Amino acid sequence: MKTLHVALDSRSYPIWIGSGLIDHSQCWREALSPGRVVIVTNETVGPLYTAAIRDTVESLGHPVICIDLPDGEQFKDWVHLNLIFDGLMANRIERGETIVALGGGVVGDMAGFAAASYQRGMRLIQVPTTLLAQVDSSVGGKTAINHPLGKNMIGAFYQPSAVFCDLDVLGTLPAREFSAGLAEVIKYGCILDAEFFNWLETNIEALLRRDRNALTEAVYRSCELKAQVVAADERETDRRAILNFGHTFGHAIEAGLGYGKWLHGEAVGCGMVIAANLSKELGGLSSEMVSRIVALIERAALPIRPPRWPAKDYLEWMSHDKKSKSGKVRYVVLRSMGSAQTQIVDDGLISKVLEKAIA
Ligand code: NAD
Ligand code: GLY
Repeated sequence: MKTLHVALDSRSYPIWIGSGLIDHSQCWREALSPGRVVIVTNETVGPLYTAAIRDTVESLGHPVICIDLPDGEQFKDWVHLNLIFDGLMANRIERGETIVALGGGVVGDMAGFAAASYQRGMRLIQVPTTLLAQVDSSVGGKTAINHPLGKNMIGAFYQPSAVFCDLDVLGTLPAREFSAGLAEVIKYGCILDAEFFNWLETNIEALLRRDRNALTEAVYRSCELKAQVVAADERETDRRAILNFGHTFGHAIEAGLGYGKWLHGEAVGCGMVIAANLSKELGGLSSEMVSRIVALIERAALPIRPPRWPAKDYLEWMSHDKKSKSGKVRYVVLRSMGSAQTQIVDDGLISKVLEKAIA
């Protein structure tokens, strides 16, 4: 097992990465506070992994309550968030007890938001079960639900007390979901670490085979990079925004198609293709680097062509972006491989880049 730390003073927490973690008594003993444990999961992940956690946690003296949500991004909303509150209230769960988020980013974001707001905050442990959740959503404390007009618009910053990245659980993840997670892994290379991008070019096939050594390296380096950014700017006053490379375009694709049509990681992968082309137009990124980014995204079995909508539709969806300041959208662009910044860009240039991408 490898351990990383998200350094946030008294709210610092470990990320454990390795095999056999979901029933690792020592980790659970360290992570839990006294009292009951509420496992929030969904109808797909629950039958696979709840029992292992339940048995371990109960053997340590913690009674377990389970709340199962329906499976899908389209349920990441108020109505289904309320199912968690219903379960917490019905069982008279107290603030000192613990929520375990067992699932991908959808469960993690919803259970996290419930933990942030139930009785003004209860203990939260993230057990991410998708690659995307292990390398991104379970780390850093962003929690949210969607609004029909925009993704992740309602939420809170709320850090977990521990993150269990058990690589064994990725064995049951469908290939399409696995590729979606690779989009976020590629993102870290693009924005923060050119060497890691080179490593991904060499190892993408091994990753697609889920080779254990390659997977350990990819999850570890991604979490390490994310932990550094979060420690420097927990509440996204500035630097953290670079983690949204490709997301402004990606969120527009997700919202425009209706949540759940494309996977989040697919939309982000395609969004990074557009953002890389925008970076070239702005003079930062060479054509060669754009081609390498597009090629790697394609090799990861991700879509590289956005839906064929008029550019004005994209601009409308993107106008709800959370990175906006005074009504101006800030785009994440690359200065070079491994170096990113945010920038306000004229709508005319965005339209030009979008029209090329769609053509
Ligand atoms: P997801 O949570 O929908 O999971 C993908 C699918 O895989 C689901 O059907 C799920 O039930 C299934 N699944 C999960 N683990 C499995 C396993 N081990 N075996 C078999 N099936 C499994 O999708 P996701 O890609 O994990 O997360 C996407 C969500 O994360 C989006 O809502 C996005 O907004 C959010 N997100 C949040 C952050 C953040 O910082 N909070 C960052 C990135 C993404
Ligand atoms: N996924 C973007 C962030 O955590 O800031």
